[in-house]
Amino acid sequence: MLYNKKFTIIANWKMYPEDYYKAQNLLNNYLKITEINKINLIVALPDIYLKLAATEYTASSIIFSSQNISNQQLTGAFTGEISAAMIKNLGIHYSIIGHSECRDHYKETNKLIAQKVAAAIKEKLNPIVCVGETKADFIAGKLAVTKALIKQLKPVINMVNKLQISGLDLFIAYEPIWAIGSGSKVGVNYINQVCKFINNYISSKNINKANIYILYGGSVNPDNASKIKKISGLAGILVGGAALDPIKFTKICAT
Ligand code: PGA
Repeated sequence: MLYNKKFTIIANWKMYPEDYYKAQNLLNNYLKITEINKINLIVALPDIYLKLAATEYTASSIIFSSQNISNQQLTGAFTGEISAAMIKNLGIHYSIIGHSECRDHYKETNKLIAQKVAAAIKEKLNPIVCVGETKADFIAGKLAVTKALIKQLKPVINMVNKLQISGLDLFIAYEPIWAIGSGSKVGVNYINQVCKFINNYISSKNINKANIYILYGGSVNPDNASKIKKISGLAGILVGGAALDPIKFTKICAT
């Protein structure tokens, strides 16, 4: 729906910053970035800032996203949860789902993540689903990596086939878990190979021809961004830590 073939850069702010004033400072810097660069800039904010930011920056080209949603589709007694409908009703069109930090810290399973994808689709929220292998899989080699990825991708693609997501975009963010927030160097050839594998896997299973695009995330920084951005077929990148540093993020977007 919204994906216009411009390179997409997603800034995942995680649980930063600690007040909205600091969030405004960052977003004001982002405004300059979107003016200069021909990119889609999606900013995944903590939910608490979403309404304020979506209202204040409504005239800008910044697109906002939540970082997670509940798997529950109806309102109910789910303390602490935020539903896809609540996010959508703020005028937000995207949500990250299945980030490795949520899989790890909150033990989100592949089944739960597929339910979250269903909840997003029902509300016409474009899902940005994160998948990636552990360091142990990486060390074990190609077979372990592809096995780990299929385990995460299969329930999501099955759900997408079941629900038919016409009019929506599904982003799959390939994020090697060992590279997230670690500063680890991930070879561009390696990223290229894994993204190709994901693309082939999805193409073979995506029976309803849903719009599915592949992103890369994991320690993207000003030094590696230009090489990663040149990977053929890559629709965008997901940036965590470096997105909170205006100088680094400006460089990443500009290269
Ligand atoms: P990072 O985070 O860029 O700090 O590695 C990526 C992410 O949030 O997935």
